[in-house]
Amino acid sequence: MRKTPLVMRISKLLLTAVCFSAFSCAEKQLQQNDFISDLMSKMTLKEKLGQLNQQVAGEINTGSPQNTECGKAITAGEIGSVFNVIGVDKIKDLKTVAVENSRLKIPLLVGMDVVHGYQTIFPLPLGLSCTWDIEKIEKSAAIAAKESAANGIAWTFSPMVDISLDARWGRQAEGAGEDPFLGSEIAKAMVRGYQGTDLKADDKILACVKHFALYGAAESGLDYNTVDMSHLRMFNQYFDPYKAAVEAGVGSVMSSFNIVDGIPATANKWLLTDVLRKRWGFQGMVVTDYASIAEMQTHGLGELKENSVRALKAGTDMDMVTRGFLSTLETALNEGLISEDDINKACRRVLEAKQKLGLFDNPYKYCDGKIPVSVTYCAEHKAFAKELTEESFVLLKNENNILPLKKQGTIALIGPLVEARSDMAGTWSVAQDFSKYSTLKEAFEKYLNGSATVLTAQGCNLLDNEKTQNSIQKGHGTEPILRVDDEKALKEAVDIAKKSNVIICALGECAWMSGEGTSRSDLELPRPQKALLNELLKLKKPLVLLNFAGRATVLTKESKTVPAIMNVWFGSEIGAALCSVLCGEKSPSGKLTVSMPKSVGQLPLYYNTLISGRPVQDDNPEYIIFNSDYQDVSNGALYPFGFGMSYTKFEYSDITLSKTAVSESESLTAKVTVKNAGDYDGDEIVQLYIRDIYASICRPVKELKGFKRISLKKGESAEVEFEITPDLLKFYNYDLDFVLEKGEFEVMIGGNSREVKREKFEVK
Ligand code: BGC
Repeated sequence: MRKTPLVMRISKLLLTAVCFSAFSCAEKQLQQNDFISDLMSKMTLKEKLGQLNQQVAGEINTGSPQNTECGKAITAGEIGSVFNVIGVDKIKDLKTVAVENSRLKIPLLVGMDVVHGYQTIFPLPLGLSCTWDIEKIEKSAAIAAKESAANGIAWTFSPMVDISLDARWGRQAEGAGEDPFLGSEIAKAMVRGYQGTDLKADDKILACVKHFALYGAAESGLDYNTVDMSHLRMFNQYFDPYKAAVEAGVGSVMSSFNIVDGIPATANKWLLTDVLRKRWGFQGMVVTDYASIAEMQTHGLGELKENSVRALKAGTDMDMVTRGFLSTLETALNEGLISEDDINKACRRVLEAKQKLGLFDNPYKYCDGKIPVSVTYCAEHKAFAKELTEESFVLLKNENNILPLKKQGTIALIGPLVEARSDMAGTWSVAQDFSKYSTLKEAFEKYLNGSATVLTAQGCNLLDNEKTQNSIQKGHGTEPILRVDDEKALKEAVDIAKKSNVIICALGECAWMSGEGTSRSDLELPRPQKALLNELLKLKKPLVLLNFAGRATVLTKESKTVPAIMNVWFGSEIGAALCSVLCGEKSPSGKLTVSMPKSVGQLPLYYNTLISGRPVQDDNPEYIIFNSDYQDVSNGALYPFGFGMSYTKFEYSDITLSKTAVSESESLTAKVTVKNAGDYDGDEIVQLYIRDIYASICRPVKELKGFKRISLKKGESAEVEFEITPDLLKFYNYDLDFVLEKGEFEVMIGGNSREVKREKFEVK
């Protein structure tokens, strides 16, 4: 008998194994579907509609949730999901009602806005994006998932991936900034971090990419405002991060509040079915945003029943808060406005999400102690959050190298944020416990431990308008920053500043000056803070401005007058992280992911613009008549996308390309040598941009297509190589086909979007 060669035997074995596992996967899927089909065959119409209904649980007193409104509705099978309940005992009680009191014992799906951490709070998502550190961002999501899982949460409404070009929109804080390429990498990392490879694992939770779609493009940066955009722009500039999350296997999608093509996203079939499901192949569950079915009436689209029908038929599966599905769809069915199949499809997707999480196997999953509550804000998570927070700071200016500081003499710590403990975590920190977080004052005193004297003063009010400040702070449950007598507070600040060798000002936005419903039309420092800063500058002492922000703010005046400026983005460990960076244990390494404007009048502002027929260079000093130019401000950002300084400095060599001409299916590489030519060790984020010089539609001046974060000891050099694949050169053409068009391309590599080395190649 002839022997089969070893290779063939191995490949045969492998083939059998692959077939077997494909077969067993398909079989498992079938069994799972059988399980859901069987369950659905027992469900009444009301019970099916109940699964599509999501509610806030309201006040839950541990021990007797069955007597609450929510408990009664769960018993009646009228609720499929609740959200934003804090505390594993309360959640377990609610789950018990579902398992013990409801007819079919369908487990409850419990969600929460775990946006940048559960109780260990990482920098705001915008700050996280400034790290450009994909591995660590993934790990932050994994930690958030673990802490959530320990505390009863199965589902997070994150990642938020809305591209935002207009910093007046306060929700810029919740996303990854203005770039679709970076945004997509971060979207995928977050989904991987939350969901892992097996949603049934005890420490993994369901992710929800939001807000689909284009929420960040609200006109004039006004939250919830209209969006009107060409499909070309949607596909080429805005859609990628949502699509990337879908490709990474995100289990759920939240539709957005805004109008798209004249129809709210909540009921936009083109978005939710044609693009999301048919074009991208999404198979998970779609939930609305908060009360958005009801809000369609305010948009002027009829009444609750009509809008519930529209939302369901467009592809919505779960109704957040409105009760529109629960209260109107039975009548709509009887009137022939929808079919039972429409309801079944949505119900199946909700049940499948529960099944994927393993909730039918263990309805008490996330409340069964398998992940101990003690992981919450544990030392390991805190240490990691500190590290990531350090990476997020963006140093914008450091005149005469006044940073890093020496740990000696007297340091004046001044500003409304110096003792604002409850603001430190930043916006959307639903489960934070701020009693555990340090104020900046405490962090500095602990860190310096007597090696330098720390003097502190509030110095001014946060805002002039007390009423606005109250609604911002009390409305969100943060402890109000004290109202002070401006003159007296200023005098105190100047007095301690005079006694000090260096002044650190903690100014800018408090936690809820960014986030939902926080649009601002003036992005400069609030007036009383500016007045304080001006007085302190008169002392001509070394002064560092820590600009607390949840968006790109306007620091034009400060960029001229303040010696050192660093953007910081909140987080539970911000105090400790600031100490180590300001004192030089680590060099700052964050880079902006939003362009910081010179004036709010430039908004929307972004680096990857199309090019007008009469372009004017960034920072061109003289106004040029009949050109694309402002009369009162030069073009371009004050600090461009990708910009951020270090205590050390990096030098870039010219670019070497592996080829100067390639075919449509070939890749090439672009290489530079980066040298740490300064006096400190440091990290650099090397960025690759590409421009398609001539194409069938107008293409941007440059687009980010790669980046690498590297660590270099002082004096050290490294070669950084990027592979340029054909896919990186493609775009959506006029027919919305994803194509590569032959011709010349420009490659740019540098440490920010403005200062780049350039080369060209051709696709033949
Ligand atoms: C926000 C969402 C959030 C939801 C639930 C809405 O107001 O837009 O981002 O997930 O509330 O809290």
